[in-house]
Amino acid sequence: MAKSKVAYFCQSCGYESAKWLGKCPSCNQWNTFVEEVIEKASASIPTWKSDLGTRVLNKPSKVSEIENSIEKRASTGDKELDRVLGGGLVEGSIVLIGGEPGIGKSTLMLQFALNLKGRKILYISGEESQQQIKMRAERINDASNSNCYILTETATQNIFKQIELLEPEVLVIDSIQTLHSSHIDSTPGSVSQVRECTAELLRFAKETGTPVFLIGHITKDGAIAGPKILEHMVDTVLQFEGDRHHVYRILRSIKNRFGAAAELGIYEMHGGGLREVSNPSEILLSQRDEELSGIAVSAMLEGARPMLIETQALVSPAAYGTPQRSATGFDTRRMNMLLAVLEKRCGFKLSAQDVFLNIAGGIRVEDPATDLAVLVAIISSHQDIAVSSKTCFAAEVGLSGEIRAVNRIEQRIAEADKLGFETIYISKYNLKGIVREKFNLEIKAVSKIEEVFGLVFG
Ligand code: TYD
Ligand code: MG
Repeated sequence: MAKSKVAYFCQSCGYESAKWLGKCPSCNQWNTFVEEVIEKASASIPTWKSDLGTRVLNKPSKVSEIENSIEKRASTGDKELDRVLGGGLVEGSIVLIGGEPGIGKSTLMLQFALNLKGRKILYISGEESQQQIKMRAERINDASNSNCYILTETATQNIFKQIELLEPEVLVIDSIQTLHSSHIDSTPGSVSQVRECTAELLRFAKETGTPVFLIGHITKDGAIAGPKILEHMVDTVLQFEGDRHHVYRILRSIKNRFGAAAELGIYEMHGGGLREVSNPSEILLSQRDEELSGIAVSAMLEGARPMLIETQALVSPAAYGTPQRSATGFDTRRMNMLLAVLEKRCGFKLSAQDVFLNIAGGIRVEDPATDLAVLVAIISSHQDIAVSSKTCFAAEVGLSGEIRAVNRIEQRIAEADKLGFETIYISKYNLKGIVREKFNLEIKAVSKIEEVFGLVFG
């Protein structure tokens, strides 16, 4: 009898090695190698049909001769999900939805399954019983969609058998880490299992043109468990994130073969499932009656979507020797850099102050256009002077205190205008091409950080 083939896999990054290693040469983690059987002695169990030898061999063809098939897109019935997918569901695509446990991935997918009209959808769960899913379905919806089928199963061979019988038009797998294929001997959730199961589903999706959604758990440090390899294999990677204590959830596209990455969808989690939030600015700006110091509004862009968001800062004398610097939703290193700019260019003495920064709504921002609002919030708190709640900012700040231009400025201004802001500060270098008359709000163009402080704080 042939021997089973084993290999060692790093459980953190998926690196494969023939022998056990203490430290992973790829991701430098220690003690992450686990032995996995990658090929069983008798590997004659069929997977998806193509393995049975019916496969037609592909031949090369000229680019000009390839038929131009128009990408078929179907609406998912959920505007936010459509947006993140780049305009709707693409036939034969495979979408991975990652997120921490309890963030609402199952809820999102079940809600999608229940709301999808006119297509047969199969929701496969390896985590919950049919009764549990039914209870959840009743919570979300009236659970009367006759096209939604539930299957609780973890063996891919059996799943494919059921698929052949049912012929669903959309497939949801909750979650990829619970599946196992009998081709491989290692435990569900291990690197080789996850990879094999995904490969089988990928073949199924491409050959039948059925869209497949995979739910994947992410580890504590934010990587999709069983890991990067998955991201290479699938067409689209969506990340479902948010603070579990906040009601808002963000669905972000990290990779998308059929649309722009960095698109964003916002949901609100309530007792009856997830609700789409179509106007995010309204929730990200706090309702305040009086002007408070330490708050500045940034006109930022997430994906192609402009929104106004509050940045809040608290600057107070440090009680202990080393002042604390802490930022939530913003890169701490970037904040430190901005603080250094303030010290050097504007002469504010912040080295003996604790500085805390928070982005409202539990959102993480990466848009450099938030820089100016962050600086203004810090100074506002430091000087204890409030900034008008009708003023917003959209500019990047450079190391020498220069105010730099940002992309899609017109969209940002239009959004601020729509929301009733009266003044927006932008970079002088962004002015070109802007028709000021189009907007009701006043556009103040600046080129140096000192100028901004002069204008804002007098
Ligand atoms: P779930 O979808 O099970 O998370 P995941 O699949 O990502 O692990 O979401 C679980 C959380 O969502 C749970 O804490 C309860 C909450 N929830 C609501 O607030 N309202 C609802 O209608 C549902 C179904 C769940
Ligand atoms: Mg779940």
